[in-house]
Parts: sequence; C-alpha cells; structure tokens
Amino acid sequence: MLRLTFLYVILAAIHVQAVSDDWWKDAIIYQIYPRSFKDSNGDGIGDLEGITSKLQHVKDIGANAIWLSPIYTSPQQDFGYDIANFTDVDPDYGSLLDFDRLVSKAKSLGLKVILDFVPNHSSDQHPWFKKSIQRIEPYEDFYIWQDAKIVNGVRQPPNNWLSAFSGSAWEWNDERGQYYFHQFAIGQPDLNYRNKNVCKAMSNVLTFWMDKGVDGYRIDAINHMFEDERLLDEPRNDNNVPDDDYDSLDHIYTTDQNETYQVLKSWRKLLDDYVNIHQTDAKFIVTEAYVDRKLTLHYFEAGSNPFNFMFISSLNEASSAVNFKREIDNWMENLPNGKVSNWVTGNHDQHRLASRYGSKKSDMVIMLAMVLPGISVVYNGDEIGMVNKHLSWEETVDISGCNAGPERYFLKSRDPERTPFQWDNTTSAGFSTSQVTWLPVHENYKILNLAAQKIAPVSSYKFFKALTTLKRNNPVLRKGSVDVSLINKNVLGVIRRLRASSPVALMMNMAETEVVVDANSLLKIPREMTVYTSNVESNIDVGTFVDTKRLRLPASTSVVLIVSEFYRYTLS
Ligand code: NOJ
Repeated sequence: MLRLTFLYVILAAIHVQAVSDDWWKDAIIYQIYPRSFKDSNGDGIGDLEGITSKLQHVKDIGANAIWLSPIYTSPQQDFGYDIANFTDVDPDYGSLLDFDRLVSKAKSLGLKVILDFVPNHSSDQHPWFKKSIQRIEPYEDFYIWQDAKIVNGVRQPPNNWLSAFSGSAWEWNDERGQYYFHQFAIGQPDLNYRNKNVCKAMSNVLTFWMDKGVDGYRIDAINHMFEDERLLDEPRNDNNVPDDDYDSLDHIYTTDQNETYQVLKSWRKLLDDYVNIHQTDAKFIVTEAYVDRKLTLHYFEAGSNPFNFMFISSLNEASSAVNFKREIDNWMENLPNGKVSNWVTGNHDQHRLASRYGSKKSDMVIMLAMVLPGISVVYNGDEIGMVNKHLSWEETVDISGCNAGPERYFLKSRDPERTPFQWDNTTSAGFSTSQVTWLPVHENYKILNLAAQKIAPVSSYKFFKALTTLKRNNPVLRKGSVDVSLINKNVLGVIRRLRASSPVALMMNMAETEVVVDANSLLKIPREMTVYTSNVESNIDVGTFVDTKRLRLPASTSVVLIVSEFYRYTLS
C-alpha cells in the first residue's frame, strides 16, 4: 500500500512537471486574421484548412502561439466580431472538425492556440437577440434595452451615447418598442453583464473551447462591457471632429466601468479551475483595451495580461529616441511586481507596422519587441514587411470605413491592413486560386512575398527569424535584466544582462545622420562584439566585428550585438 502511494506520488510529480504554467511568459504570439491568411477552397476567403496548411510557416518564424481573430458563425458585418453562434465555426471558415484538425496540427508543432473571445456583444442574428426582442425568458434582459425619450412628441434615443463606428449607439426596434444599445455596429447589440444568465452563458463559451484544447483567450473590447446605469449624457471633447464621430465624446459612462474587473476575475478563476481539474498547461488571457497606464493596472490585477499598445498609440515614425525611452521606462516602471510585459507591434485594427513607421523604423520596433523582456505580439504579414493597400471608397468593405462615408472613409477604414497574405508571386499572391479575393491583394505582391524573401540573401523574413531565434534560444533575452539608456537624443541602447552570460545589446540610431558612440564606456558592454542582426536596409553584414568604444551607426540604423567567439574566429 505504502509502495503504491509512493508510486502515485512519483507519477503525479512526473505529470505535474509536464504541465507548463509559464509557457506564455516569453511567448511570441502571432495573430492570424483568418479571412486573409490562406484560402484552401478557392472562394477568395481565408479559412481554417488554409491556416492549418500554413502552420509550419508560423513554426518556422519562431512563434510559439497563434491568436486567431474570430472564426465563429457570423453574418460578417464586422468580419467575425459580430457573432451569431459563439460555439460554432462560420461556414466561410469551415467546421468544428476543421478546428479540431487545426488544434491537433498546432499541438504537433508545439504551437499554443489562443482564440478571440468577444464578450461585449453578439450579432443581431444571434438567437439570444431574436428571443430578447420577443421578450422570451430568460433572454428578455440579455441585452441593454431602454425606452425612448419623447421630446416634443418625437421619439429620441435615451441619451447622446455614440457607437465606435459613428452615429448613435441606440437603435430603435419596432417589434419590442424599445431602443437597444450597441457600442459598435447596429448589428452588434451589447450584452447585459448585470444579468447573471449572460455571465453564465458566456462562461460556458469559454469552457466549450477549452474542451477543444484552446490555450487562452484574447478578450475583445473588454473596457466596453459595462455602462453607467444613470444613462447620463457624455461630455463633448474639445476637438473638431463631426458630432456623430465617436471621438467627439469623452466616454466616461460607457467605458472602463468598475464592474468590468469583477467579471474578468471570474473568468480568470474559471480558467484556473479548469487547469487544476484537467491538469493542463496554463490558460493565458490577454485583454484588449486602449486605456492609460492607471487603468491598465486593473487588468493586470484581475488576472489578465493587458495589451501594451505603446507602439501603436503613443509612438510613430516621428518619435525620437527620447520618446521611445520615455514610453518604455514608463511602462516598465508601472509594471506590477511579478507581472510580465508584452509588446504589440500591430493588429488588424491599425495601419500596417511598416506603413506607420516606414521600413527602417518598423524594423527597430520589431527589434524592440523581441529584445525587451516579455511577450511579443505580431500581426500576420508584418514578418515580411507587408504594407497598407490603398483602397477606393467603392472597394471599402470595413463597416468603420463605410459608416464614415465617402469623404472620411480612409480615416476610419481598417481594410488597408487586412489584405490577403502575400505567400508568393502566383495568382492572388498564393493566398487563393481565385483571381477575386474578398479584399484585393496588394499590387506589390510580385516583389514583396514570402517565397521571394526566403531565397533573398537579406529580407524582412530572415531578419524577423533571426530575432525570434535569439529570443527563443538565448537565456539572456528570456531571463536577463534590462537597461534602456539614451546615449544622446537620437541613440537608444537596450542592454540585457544575465549574471555571467555575455550581454545582448540593441543599439538604435534614430537620426538621419551617422553617429559614432562610445557604447563600451557609456553602457558598460564588452568592447569586442559582433553584429547578430541589423535592420534590413542597413547593409551591415551579419557577423561583422565591432569595437563598441567607437561604434559607428549609419543613419537610421539599428543593430543587435552579441559576444560570439564563433563570429570572431570565422571572421579573422
Ligand atoms: C475590437 C476588434 O479588434 C475590432 O476589430 C472590432 O471591430 C471591435 N473590437 C468590435 O468587436
């Protein structure tokens, strides 16, 4: 008996060891926008089978997790963020069986699978909403319904709240005789989280996909989940945008309400309980909220890893080394004890990294995202430097662009960053066998494509891969300390150190002119180092030996330096 207990303890220990609770801490998360990644059936729309067929690429570039933008049943008004069934796959993308195959292929490649979880709203085509209109229990209060305000005998929305996609956030429903609230499109009614049945139903959704092997969630628009019950008008912002533009109001009553964090905590617990019961690897939660540092802390405390959007919201092509240092320090100093940072370089809602920063500076951002400690989050296509495609008003399909009208669509449309992935120079860039794709392929695909970059001696792809290889394999990048130092107003150094190991130094010259700096004395790095990688247009050879006492950095050039006996011997 005693022996059996002993054996059990040993077996349990072996089992526990096999479970990873920290796989996400230095993960490279690769966001896949399913509609645009790879079309397997020639209908011009990406799908799950297409994704599965390209998972080897994700593995090759050194990512260890994929985040899939929504794949669920949807009328596609907001391309999947309007969900008509939270527990099924949209026929455009395949079936649940295809999803199972995708997960099993991902697991076989050692890739974690993170799904988009969209709690704020469903589609107006969801059966819950249809029943809510008819006041069928328990769905009557599943959504936010309000009576009209009658002014001079005329029906009006309850207040001035606006939709993120322009216009009133209230839509009249004749059948129910009330307005419903939608923070996003008219076809995306907001769920009512003050109703316990909604909380339960959405928790079940999380469990459903965990049972299918999902390793975590990216939680969509989380700071929009609650609204102040007093329904007060929101104050006008002091800006020149039109009255129906979301940015015209200060959203003090419709975003960042305190109850949000309680719900998030309950989801954290649900996932942790699942891990304990089923003895799985940790389940990761990353939250999407474009908020300030103070509010970000609430999301950490509630058990998620809030997206760090500094490379999107606070910095751009015009930012100086001083700006970069200030933002990075501010983030790191405010990181709660024991929490892990993340670095988002782009996503499907923002213009392409290379278009926001230009080719040279976008490489710098990727270098920072890989060299700084924590999680790197990359949007598909950025690993080959894809750029925005200009689309006419007639070609525009994104609801945010469409609602803004022909004069302003280009300010709001997210289509430019969502065009199909450029795999090669064949029909539709190898994305689809169809000449017609849901969004047109960028005309530069004949030159800018993965296949070409794989054979080119120097390319965005090779540069990206070099960085992920370093991040994955060098313990200094995984566990070392970090120092971010300004050498002068244009030159930034990021030094990672780990006890006796040789440091890794990222040196960035953001000036339009060449500089020579004494990084050896100023940053206390070894005098003899070699170039591990440099930005694609730098013309600096990998393995070049440098004297950091007189480190020459050409205009807009950045280099990652390591100490490498190997390079020293092969170069001498
Ligand atoms: C944020 C998503 O990233 C975006 O694409 C979507 O339109 C809104 N949330 C609404 O779900």
